[in-house]
Amino acid sequence: MASLENKNILIGICGGIALYKICELIRLLKNEKANIKTVLTSGAEKFISSLLFASLSGTKSYTDKDFFSPTGEILHIELSKFPDLILVAPATASFISKLAAGSASELLLAILLATKSSVYLFPSMNARMWEHPAVQKNIELLKNFGYFIYEPSEGILACEEIGKGRLPEIEEIFEVVQAHFVKKTLIGKKVLITGGPTREYIDEVRFITNASSGKTAFYLAREAYYRGAEVHLIWGLDSFPYIFPKLQYFSSIPFPNIYFVKTTKEMFEVSKSLFFKCDICIFSAAPSDFRPKITFKGKLKKKEPITLDLELTEDIAQILNSQKREEQITIGFALEEEKTLVNYSKKKKQEKFFDFLVANPIYTLGKESSDYILFTPTETLKYKNLSKSQLAQILFDLIG
Ligand SMILES: Cc1cc2nc3c(=O)[nH]c(=O)nc-3n(C[C@H](O)[C@H](O)[C@H](O)COP(=O)(O)O)c2cc1C
Repeated sequence: MASLENKNILIGICGGIALYKICELIRLLKNEKANIKTVLTSGAEKFISSLLFASLSGTKSYTDKDFFSPTGEILHIELSKFPDLILVAPATASFISKLAAGSASELLLAILLATKSSVYLFPSMNARMWEHPAVQKNIELLKNFGYFIYEPSEGILACEEIGKGRLPEIEEIFEVVQAHFVKKTLIGKKVLITGGPTREYIDEVRFITNASSGKTAFYLAREAYYRGAEVHLIWGLDSFPYIFPKLQYFSSIPFPNIYFVKTTKEMFEVSKSLFFKCDICIFSAAPSDFRPKITFKGKLKKKEPITLDLELTEDIAQILNSQKREEQITIGFALEEEKTLVNYSKKKKQEKFFDFLVANPIYTLGKESSDYILFTPTETLKYKNLSKSQLAQILFDLIG
């Protein structure tokens, strides 16, 4: 993930109810040390005072009063040169129509006409307004002009109707911003990632599993996606508690494919069906190494102690990597006790034909950060207290 530190972001805020959500967006971006400037339309000023946005962004919040103020500077041109990225959120139907017509009658409109920065518009309005042919025609025009349109979400609207028109959740807009600043080094590449634990059933309700959270796999998938790859994420947990922004609204980057699996056998079958067509294959799941030889039907009754007879499960990475193409890159993970970490990991890298191997101590499970040793084809790199998101960035930088 690219850093937002010192990135200049201008947020244009129009007169829609969803504008209250932008406060939270400013807070998230400020936490990442981005420089934020806000510009309110005259419509927005009817809902809220610019004082709020000035306080949150830590700098003056501009309104139409500033457009014609006799300070000697040509404000809209100055502000058009400031941003690395411009967001307009919420973008009202009215603002969209004025922008599509090329109007510069307001400060924000004039900035957008003058700027060379990328501009992302987040329309938000009643569903029937959004569907209106006039709005849709304007949206098409804006797309043709090169503005990026992030379509509204579906759900309950401020008017209490249900439909397409909601401003996306702020976390989603924040992810769009993050994705924007990531270099697109993996365009055209297919990346396979396995993540989470698997389950091996004792009977129809009980199973053997482990504490893998899938976080590392998620951060790897997100980094690959933001770099432009076609991502295939094979996921051993029941739910996927993360957000991927819909980059396909303004790029040809396909939305990640997530395959939910339960057992190691299922994870193996899905991995096999994708492995041969992928350029980069990352085995970051923690599949169960053992499974009961017999899965009992129904639910075992608690009558007397039982002994489970366990057999080994498929070694997914070893079986698939042994058939890998020369140019395919494979990456493995080794979770080990600290004292055996280095030796075991080196052995694993060799025996399972990995090009890269990430060794991490047992306490990494479920945590946001850890110490890592990275074995590349040529060197051994050590990292202290690295977040899983930073690890993903480093790995893809190394792959190139
Ligand atoms: C209570 C209220 C809520 C509104 N919500 C929206 C909205 O969500 N989206 C929208 O496009 N217009 C909405 N409007 C209409 C705009 O506020 C109106 O078109 C205004 O002129 C837009 O100004 P601006 O484009 O300069 O920001 C709303 C109006 C009112 C009175």
